[in-house]
Parts: sequence; structure tokens; C-alpha cells
Amino acid sequence: MIVIAGGIKGGSGKTTVATNLAIIRAAQGRDVLLIDADDQETSTDFTALRNEVLPEGAGYTGIKLSGAAVRTDTLKLSKKYDDIIIDTGGRDTTSQRAALSIADVILVPFVPRSFDVWTLEKVSKLVAEMRSANPTLKAYAFINRADPRGQDNNEAAEIIRDTEELSFIETPLGSRKAFCNAAAQGLAVTELKQQDAKAIDEIMILFRYVFEIN
Ligand SMILES: Nc1ncnc2c1ncn2[C@@H]1O[C@H](COP(=O)(O)OP(=O)(O)O)[C@@H](O)[C@H]1O
Ligand SMILES: [Mg+2]
Repeated sequence: MIVIAGGIKGGSGKTTVATNLAIIRAAQGRDVLLIDADDQETSTDFTALRNEVLPEGAGYTGIKLSGAAVRTDTLKLSKKYDDIIIDTGGRDTTSQRAALSIADVILVPFVPRSFDVWTLEKVSKLVAEMRSANPTLKAYAFINRADPRGQDNNEAAEIIRDTEELSFIETPLGSRKAFCNAAAQGLAVTELKQQDAKAIDEIMILFRYVFEIN
């Protein structure tokens, strides 16, 4: 399966989701490739840190690709790996379009408040366009960094539900220190010594949804 963490917003949680999903999938015995298709190289840095802190290594293979190679090289590599996760930058780039032309799923995180209809419409249009090349592409959006309570989550949810081309995953990822703490240590939230049960529940729901595990 080829899964993109994408969208056209910086800081929405793409790298957080991509790295957590890669680690959890690899822990289930799958041979996973994490492709960093973002110029900022955050997931490459994460993988380097992870390889330093874990004696057994990252558990997945991390590489960096950009531009049209995100399509051509990923297609080649898809024969060698069980699953590929592509972390894209928060803009409508050649790299993200190349990824969208071959992926099974794009997963789009949205943060309440930072949120604007314009962004969603652009993602929706991008997905519609890419479906002419890749008609089976699934597009899921979910709320990341949800507030503990309050109206902003609901407003964001309603706007996503109303957006064509995107299916809404109802379970959000809460705004939780565990996600930052894990990232800073080169870990997934499932691997933290100080376990945050809610963060783990949330990421596992997302994980099962994406990989269609019931
Ligand atoms: N659910 C969350 N709760 C708390 N912090 C989060 C959450 N998701 C992401 N973050 C933090 O927000 C920042 C941006 O997330 P990141 O995944 O790097 O976004 P992107 O890749 O979309 O730019 C990071 O510092 C990350 O640790
Ligand atoms: Mg990122």
C-alpha cells in the first residue's frame, strides 16, 4: 500500500502521522519504506535520530526523493516493499502531485482554527484533478491537535464533512504532549516509556482505518 501524509498546510501533522504510521506498520513485521518528499527533510532528520537512539535501528527504511522521482522511483520500490509511506511538504508541489499519481491513499490532517475553507477547497480540487490520472485514490481528512473541548473541533469537522472529494475520519488526534515528546526522541507514541493511553488509542484508530484492519 502507498500512503501519503499530505495537504497544503505546513505544521498540520504530516510528519507526525507519517513517522508514527511507518513505525507501527513496521512493528507488525511489514517491510516499510518511508519516503521524505519534503524539502524541509523533517522525517529524514527523524529517521537519522531514530537510527542513533535505537540499537536495532529505525525498523523501516527511510529515503529522500523529490520531483518526478517521487513517482518513478516509488513505483520501482513498491515491488520491493510491503508498504510505502510518503511524507510531503505542505504545498502543492511537483513532488506531491507525483505522489498523488500513484498512491492508494492520501491522509490530510487539519488543525482547528489554523483552518480555512480556502485550504480545504484547494486540497479538494487537487484530489479531483489527480483522480483523473489515479481514479482509485482514496482521500481521508481528519482533525489533528484537537482541543480538549470546545466548538472549534465541531466547526472544523463540519467544514471537512462538507468538502467534496475528502472522506472525514471522525476520530481526531488530540493535542497531546506525547506526540511532541515521542518525535523529540525518535519514537512513535506507542513506544514512549511514559505511555499516553489516549494518544495511543487515537493513532491506532487512524492506523487501522488507513490500513483497513478491523
Ligand atoms: N496531535 C499533536 N499533539 C501535539 N503536538 C503535535 C501533534 N501533531 C503534531 N504536533 C507537533 O506539531 C509540530 C508540527 O507537526 P509536523 O508533524 O512536523 O507537521 P508537518 O509535517 O505537517 O509540518 C511538531 O512539533 C509536532 O510534534
Ligand atoms: Mg513535515
